[in-house]
Amino acid sequence: MELIKLDIRKAGAELTAELKAKAAQANELLHSGKGAGNDFLGWVNLPSSISDAEIAAIKAQAAKLRAKADAVVCIGIGGSYLGARAVLEAMSDPFEYLKKEHGNPAVIFAGQNISEDYMFELLEALKDHSIATIVISKSGTTTEPAIAFRIIKEEIEKRYGKSEAKERIVAVTDKARGALKTLADNEGYPTFVIPDNVGGRFSVLTPVGLLPLAVGGVDIEALVAGAAAMEKATGCDVPVEENLSAQYAIARNVLYGNGKKIEILGSYEPKLQYINEWWKQLYGESEGKDGKGIFPASVTLTADLHSMGQYIQEGERILFETIISVAEPEHKMVIESDRDNLDGLNFLAGKRISDVNKMAELGVRLAHVDGGVPNIRVEIPRVDERSLGALIYFFEKACGISGYMLGVNPFNQPGVEAYKKNMFALLDKPGYEEESKAIKARL
Ligand code: PA5
Repeated sequence: MELIKLDIRKAGAELTAELKAKAAQANELLHSGKGAGNDFLGWVNLPSSISDAEIAAIKAQAAKLRAKADAVVCIGIGGSYLGARAVLEAMSDPFEYLKKEHGNPAVIFAGQNISEDYMFELLEALKDHSIATIVISKSGTTTEPAIAFRIIKEEIEKRYGKSEAKERIVAVTDKARGALKTLADNEGYPTFVIPDNVGGRFSVLTPVGLLPLAVGGVDIEALVAGAAAMEKATGCDVPVEENLSAQYAIARNVLYGNGKKIEILGSYEPKLQYINEWWKQLYGESEGKDGKGIFPASVTLTADLHSMGQYIQEGERILFETIISVAEPEHKMVIESDRDNLDGLNFLAGKRISDVNKMAELGVRLAHVDGGVPNIRVEIPRVDERSLGALIYFFEKACGISGYMLGVNPFNQPGVEAYKKNMFALLDKPGYEEESKAIKARL
């Protein structure tokens, strides 16, 4: 079964020989390691190179945390957070919390904001639960997760003592450097390594994503297998005519050249909402630099047709859409006939809800294309681990190709430092004395 189908017929982007050659060359650079940012290409062969021993170690650690805790706080931000959340939300029953029997521990995310209320309310909510934490930070110095970890670590030590804390705290970080590595070594926490050559936004298929996902009950082997299938299907030996990542990259490149500066990713399956968030970081951080890059935006459908739909249909013509379409839902529900038919919906009686969803998708696609919003359609067979693994790798590979076609280094993010410098100067961090003076003079 094909794990991904790509339809660019409504994108208005022709795969010319020149573009195909450019995309093939970009893909070649990802594999040869001769392009910009080549010290961060570890993700290219990640799915096929993860060892059975590594998967087994992750699963064993996840089993320990699952046995200890019914709430596992997963601390991290950006690339150390979004991938796990995206897959977990896609694979979870959104109403699990209403059920008496919970099969899996709750995986709760923290460290992706600096909200006092969020931390306070989280601690309150955890009071009656047995807790553990996974703290994820490659640098080990990122402010948001560091603050959250201080608080959760203290809570765990207070409740269970320092010795038991070693059974309930796991760190995922650099193999040798950084504050978190030092702390984990000093305290004796189990650690998992974020490879040097894998940047945050490409790290979901490392322990960064795999450990929290295994704790949450996701089949990480199937996830990796799906990604490995897509790694093979997008290799540089695969012609562009068959390489879906290359084709998606070309379509984006053409649309950007035609003035389509904003790409909206959307899906008619609300479980994929955090896939949007993960994708926005992947493309935003990879391409938004040197005064260039498509702005990645997202919608959840059909909800946002009732809020953003007007703009998409008739606003500035600088948009194109990429829709992740799910061929088959997991469950089956048929719309029943109603005796009074006051809502006038009896014409739908006997149809599945997904039949209506599919016609909404088709109708919107045609309306938006007619309104000047080109459409790219990415179809996955169902929302399961294999499809999600394939989807993740499909987007990662396309992002690398697209970034090189755009002429940027897709693997750095120099722009994210600017706010940190200001924040530290405003907070009088030692070492920032000059910046503090300068910024305060501007206030
Ligand atoms: O993609 C990136 O590099 C960033 O989003 C980082 O993942 C994010 O800033 C978190 O960094 P760290 O893992 O060092 O705490």
